[in-house]
Amino acid sequence: MLSPLIKEIVALPANAQDVIVRGWVRTKRELKNLTFVEVNDGSCFSGLQCTFDRAGSTNAVLSALSTGASVEIRGYLVPSPGSGQAVEIAAYAIALIGEAPVETYPLQKKRHSLEFLRELAHLRARTNTFGAVARVRSRLAQGIHEFFHSHNFQYVHTPIITASDAEGAGAMFQVTTLDLKALAISGKAPDYGQDFFGKPTYLTVSGQLEAETYATALSRVYTFGPTFRAENSNTTRHLAEFWMIEPEMAFAVLEDNMALAEEFLKYLFTLVLEACAGDLAFFDAHIEKGIIPTLQSVIDSTFTHITYTDAVAELEKNATVFELKPYWGCDLQSEHEKFLTEKVAGGPVIVTDYPKEIKAFYMKLNSDEKTVRAMDVLVPRLGELIGGSQREENLANLEKRITDLGMNPEDYTWYLDLRRYGTAPQSGFGMGFERLIQYVTGMANIRDVIPYPRAVGQAEF
Ligand code: 4AD
Ligand code: MG
Repeated sequence: MLSPLIKEIVALPANAQDVIVRGWVRTKRELKNLTFVEVNDGSCFSGLQCTFDRAGSTNAVLSALSTGASVEIRGYLVPSPGSGQAVEIAAYAIALIGEAPVETYPLQKKRHSLEFLRELAHLRARTNTFGAVARVRSRLAQGIHEFFHSHNFQYVHTPIITASDAEGAGAMFQVTTLDLKALAISGKAPDYGQDFFGKPTYLTVSGQLEAETYATALSRVYTFGPTFRAENSNTTRHLAEFWMIEPEMAFAVLEDNMALAEEFLKYLFTLVLEACAGDLAFFDAHIEKGIIPTLQSVIDSTFTHITYTDAVAELEKNATVFELKPYWGCDLQSEHEKFLTEKVAGGPVIVTDYPKEIKAFYMKLNSDEKTVRAMDVLVPRLGELIGGSQREENLANLEKRITDLGMNPEDYTWYLDLRRYGTAPQSGFGMGFERLIQYVTGMANIRDVIPYPRAVGQAEF
């Protein structure tokens, strides 16, 4: 049997029942003849206060105790006279399991900067902030599965190693077992026929194309897995390795896709407010003031819809405030996205029908032949949270688009088969999981919402 966690203990009746608390010491305070030890085990935001009478036999252990040490405490669960907690432990025994010497343990009681903690990624989950991020991340991951399960989407595992470029953008990490050093010395060009897979392969940038093959069989599917981008973007919103959720639906048009995205986000915000209330209260107080009412207001709102063309017109009216002057055909910059969400919509906004030149090859061409049925869900503070589209279901259009872009249709024969056999209107989107976590926690840097961030020049641990 597993022994109860603090989360479970604090839910028990405070009727002086005998309990065992195991965890790590956060603080130790001495007052008159009492010693207060705050123990945290990461199961919930709050720790458990254990109060010792210093006249007791526990004194020797208590005096040696320091922040970070692991302990096992026995005592009675009683109502707490102090404010800030409903229950506490009237402790009668303590065992020091593992010490954490004050001289060397880097996480002392004081507040540490996020930059400092990034260097200590193996220990930072022991802090309030990173413990809270980890719990929110875990709960939302579960919630994402719950949401899709309740809407009859099947979970599909798409490959991580792939030979196709799903976004046609080329920012891929190559996977090879060729001896690069020997090749460099020989001066010969690599022969990919001799490589592990007999051809060049990469880490996937998106599971979409493979998910689409299952959507054309199971109707509603989704993926949730790691994706990789070798973009040289050193920003607070980009990682080289991030997790993406990609639902894909057959017999669905862009309007269905937008409705799903809105319902999905509201479901997750409602869930996190309820299931992670303690953690959210911390983020609201210490990381992003007002995050709780903001999430609540988004849940109660209706998302604004605007076409790219109308969005650019709005931006052009205010052209003087931007570093990069907006014009029809430009890729929206983060300053533009910020303006649209914060000034135009005052909340999330779904921008649709982008110029085909700035979007991926698989998006459905509109009858104007200039724009595609793309949608980006933009949110205040962060910009793009979701990117998706209705897919081009017409074989001839899709082939033309692939050739026009200078891509090789031979590489996409399997994908084109989906349009050759039983094609239907189809839509889907992708949401960066870390962007979601950033949005709900208010954490400013994406490197602080994934345990071990991988970004340009950063692959420690
Ligand atoms: O807009 P993107 O590139 O779209 C796709 O990959 C499509 N295949 C999705 C689909 O239609 N199935 O990426 C989708 C989302 C973005 O909106 C953003 O939230 C996130 O993935 N994202 C990143 N997150 C962190 N770091 C990066 N480098 C990211 N690039 C994209
Ligand atoms: Mg995008």
